[in-house]
Amino acid sequence: MRVLLLISFFTIVLISCTQQETKKNQEDDKSKMKESISGIEIFQQNCVSCHGAAGNLGTSGAKNLQTSKLTKSEIVLQVTNGKGMMSAYKNLLSEEEIEHVSEYVLTLRK
Ligand code: HEC
Repeated sequence: MRVLLLISFFTIVLISCTQQETKKNQEDDKSKMKESISGIEIFQQNCVSCHGAAGNLGTSGAKNLQTSKLTKSEIVLQVTNGKGMMSAYKNLLSEEEIEHVSEYVLTLRK
């Protein structure tokens, strides 16, 4: 009888653990969605004046982001440190924000 009780106890513990696991995954998905939204927001607040909403405006010689061939880490570097007419964003945006906006830049490619 004891053994049976023990087994059912462990089964219940196991079931509740797996349920928590799926809940955690759902929360992860939600935070991923939030990331991409804030990438757009950061872009619209800081980058559209030169690059335009679609990335191809080209004000003050801004490079076309639709045809850019930079990798994500190169974008992160350029946004962090700036280049030519483009100012550095390391004092304006957090590392995380630069990461998000760089991911967004990649989605502008045609
Ligand atoms: C003052 C205008 C201006 C603003 C604002 C600006 N940029 Fe730029 N951006 C430029 C210019 C000019 C270049 C070309 C720099 C060069 O190569 O000399 C450039 C180049 C880039 C490149 C490199 C493209 C390539 O293929 O070489 C990326 C990526 C980029 N900008 C992203 C951003 C992001 C993200 C933001 C906002 C956080 C931003 N820029 C804000 C002017 C701007």
